Amino acid sequence: MKVAVLGCGAIGAVVAHALADGEVSGAELVGVVHADATDPPGLPVLDFGSAVDRADLVVECAGQAALAEFGSRVLAAGKDLLVVSAGALADDAIFGRLTGYDAGRVYLSTGAIGGLDLLAAAARAGGLSSVRLTTTKLAGNLVQPWMDQEQIKLLRKTTEPIELLRGPARKVTAAFPKSANVAASVALAVGDWDLVDAAVVADPDAELTSHVLTAEGTAGSYRFEIRNHPSARTPTTSGIVPHAVLRAIRSMTGRAVLPL
Ligand SMILES: NC(=O)c1ccc[n+]([C@@H]2O[C@H](COP(=O)([O-])OP(=O)(O)OC[C@H]3O[C@@H](n4cnc5c(N)ncnc54)[C@H](O)[C@@H]3O)[C@@H](O)[C@H]2O)c1
Repeated sequence: MKVAVLGCGAIGAVVAHALADGEVSGAELVGVVHADATDPPGLPVLDFGSAVDRADLVVECAGQAALAEFGSRVLAAGKDLLVVSAGALADDAIFGRLTGYDAGRVYLSTGAIGGLDLLAAAARAGGLSSVRLTTTKLAGNLVQPWMDQEQIKLLRKTTEPIELLRGPARKVTAAFPKSANVAASVALAVGDWDLVDAAVVADPDAELTSHVLTAEGTAGSYRFEIRNHPSARTPTTSGIVPHAVLRAIRSMTGRAVLPL
């Protein structure tokens, strides 16, 4: 499987180096597409068009805006797309564009959390009556362009956790595009944007990023608590995410026996 990586930051660089080093049997890096001032050392760099031409699979690790702009060009070329910036799919127009192709397929990375497989099954086994997600991150990493100076100051000075936003997954993922992709992943897994009640909490002492996910339904009652170390390079991302991407690629090669 020939793989191109779109975006070479905290997630993309780890994925690209692992593929270049032959860590995934049956997968080969054709190159990375990036938007940084300097090329990433030790990796083949391609323009977007060449990457799509050469790859069987393009892995999006570049953010919601890049996925919205470039995702459909991958699929229109009949190539597969593995998505990490799940929040972009909260926009119905983008969702429609990315799911309207017969040839190229869209795959969603599990990203920073687990349990999506079970919740997806439970949602189809008689339905879920409630799904609740609380994401807690280090306060200073949650500053957003839409916040006013007072709110930014509060985030930087707070000595206690503050719930910044609670609401439907679509609203929360749009408000925190780098930090609340998980809310979108959960909504996509259960197939219902309105059912998922999501929150983002800013904690001045949160050394680990946590996601507490609970759900109730006909099939059972579920609670997952995930606590990830942030990536040193991009603290809004958890260090586990590139390894979730690599696990997905490993599954897609068909050469490893992994849970599906
Ligand atoms: N699903 C999840 O659980 C999850 C978790 C963390 C992050 N994410 C998503 O993954 C994205 C990437 O995370 P990261 O930590 O690697 O970010 P990062 O900022 O470290 O790296 C992103 C890279 O993409 C590049 N880029 C941006 N636009 C581009 C474009 N149009 N073409 C090519 N390259 C482009 C940037 O230059 C940067 O190098 C985040 O923005 C977020 O949306 C998802």
